[in-house]
Amino acid sequence: MCGIVGYVGRQTAAPILLAGLRRLEYRGYDSAGVATWHEGRIEVRKCRGKIDAGLAPLLESAPPPGCLGVGHTRWATHGPPTDANAHPHGDASGRLAVVHNGVIENHEALKARLLAAGHTFRSDTDTEVLAHLIGVHYEHPELAARPAAERLVRALERALAEVQGTYGLAVICTETPGLLIGARRGSPLILGLGEGENFLASDTTAIVAHTRQVVYLEDGDLATLTADHFQVTNLGRRSAAVQVSRIEFTPEAAERGGFPHFMLKEIFEQPATIAAALRGRLDAAEATARFGGLNMSPAELRAVDRIVITACGTSWHAGLVGEHYLESLAHLPVEVEYASEFRYRNPPLDKNTLVLVITQSGETADTLAALREARRRGHRVLALCNVVGSTIAREADGGIYLHAGPEIGVASTKAFTSQVTVLLLFALFMGRLRMLSPARGQALLRALEEAPELARKVLELDPQVRELAARYADRRDFYFLGRQLGFPVALEGALKLKEISYLHAEAYPAAEMKHGPIALMDEASPCVFLAPRGFLYEKILGNIEEVRARGAPVIALGTEGDSTLASKAAAVLPLPAADELLFPLLSVIPLQLLAYHIAVRRGCDVDKPRNLAKSVTVE
Ligand code: AGP
Repeated sequence: MCGIVGYVGRQTAAPILLAGLRRLEYRGYDSAGVATWHEGRIEVRKCRGKIDAGLAPLLESAPPPGCLGVGHTRWATHGPPTDANAHPHGDASGRLAVVHNGVIENHEALKARLLAAGHTFRSDTDTEVLAHLIGVHYEHPELAARPAAERLVRALERALAEVQGTYGLAVICTETPGLLIGARRGSPLILGLGEGENFLASDTTAIVAHTRQVVYLEDGDLATLTADHFQVTNLGRRSAAVQVSRIEFTPEAAERGGFPHFMLKEIFEQPATIAAALRGRLDAAEATARFGGLNMSPAELRAVDRIVITACGTSWHAGLVGEHYLESLAHLPVEVEYASEFRYRNPPLDKNTLVLVITQSGETADTLAALREARRRGHRVLALCNVVGSTIAREADGGIYLHAGPEIGVASTKAFTSQVTVLLLFALFMGRLRMLSPARGQALLRALEEAPELARKVLELDPQVRELAARYADRRDFYFLGRQLGFPVALEGALKLKEISYLHAEAYPAAEMKHGPIALMDEASPCVFLAPRGFLYEKILGNIEEVRARGAPVIALGTEGDSTLASKAAAVLPLPAADELLFPLLSVIPLQLLAYHIAVRRGCDVDKPRNLAKSVTVE
């Protein structure tokens, strides 16, 4: 997903823009650029490729002067990654520099109109069309006599009124020194409020080093910023509700903290982030959980007779775990739907169906669309989300924040365990509104209180997992097998390996192997089994035997002290004994580490895997 940074103040803008763009690299991109205003001119430096190889040397060799500027990292949607397609883009006159996140869906019609009027374009992008359109309105005779700042704001308003699609954008103009303008519809944009300086950014990690006071723009908002002032209007409502929030995390939290990769840091943060997900939410007196932002009364929550969970990717896997929790603790029928499918299906949902959207970023296009479709039909929608002030967090009727801090690595790790933790809390909460006993509630609270320490204990397996990775990093096909709560974990383990090591990995319910996949298994294909002591353990042992009989090496995640497993598997990763409902939380950690170490051994870009973006804000 693209990244935006804007600066207006008394410092030289280019270094601030560059540092901010570096903080946004994790989102995935393939070109980058900046534009600054200086003495009535706009200086643009932009090129394809990563910042270290492209933009940074360009800025080093010809630093653009000026205390006003915009920067952008582009993840190609319209047109390949080239120097010309990199942002910023200008208008026909060369007055403007525009950076943009999102998709202008009617850009072809707009471009045809501009071409017919004699415009020429240097790029294939929808953003350049938008820049030209703003320029046309800026030159309209009706605006010619207005002061330049007002002229630019009106021109932007008129251009955006013609646009269909989504945007988060920032604009500077040769004729408006000291003025930075931002606008958003469907693609996040944040104001950062400093002392004698102000910022625009597509997410807080880009500016947290400068300020923790932010304003999350709403759809339709248009913000004008100078070094000492800011104003927000709304294209639909004229006035805009401006709420200044404080960024929860510190600048260090957005740094790697001495780890070689963000992903490893975030894996090792999990004891702390599980604790953060629990903090203030355990109600021992009532043997339940408590939440501040559901915005539903106990009566409304009791009236819920069905839950649809919808999400994408790792968040969808967390939803599968939540399904087990809610069915077993609250006896609620639950369906888990891919958001990309749910948004187009027409399922017969009755009025007491609650929709639960799960998302780390709060900006995933399919999940946002599913939320809007559910709300359009009148369903209450709750969001489990990590990014405060994100679009999904603000459009849901209520929700529960994960409090996991920024997740920078493209491969989601701590967000998953925080989602599972919150889902267990929510299931306990919903169960205690129904038939779940105080005794079971208390037992679950005690188990949850132990979860952070148990996760820390599991992390001590890291050297053993690293050794396993060395043994199997050259294999091409991996299978992950589990039953019940083990199956979503198997899916998540397979996804982790796929997305950062580019190896083929599949997950199945362990019993499903016999219905086809076992034909694929041989000595070349390691099989990872989720095999905790407890219900179905014997069945899983049987599945392990079937796989071993085909020569496939078995890696088993089991309960510590299980000597039977040790006699059947090529390697065993022992997990501490714990309430069975904590199994997904604990068993996913070794799988995250296995994927990480194999990817590192294979020389892959662990934090920014090929073809992937941290948040998929396009369909
Ligand atoms: C997870 O490792 C992937 N990066 C991806 O599947 C991700 O979970 C998915 O895109 C959903 O993102 P969200 O949680 O931010 O909505």
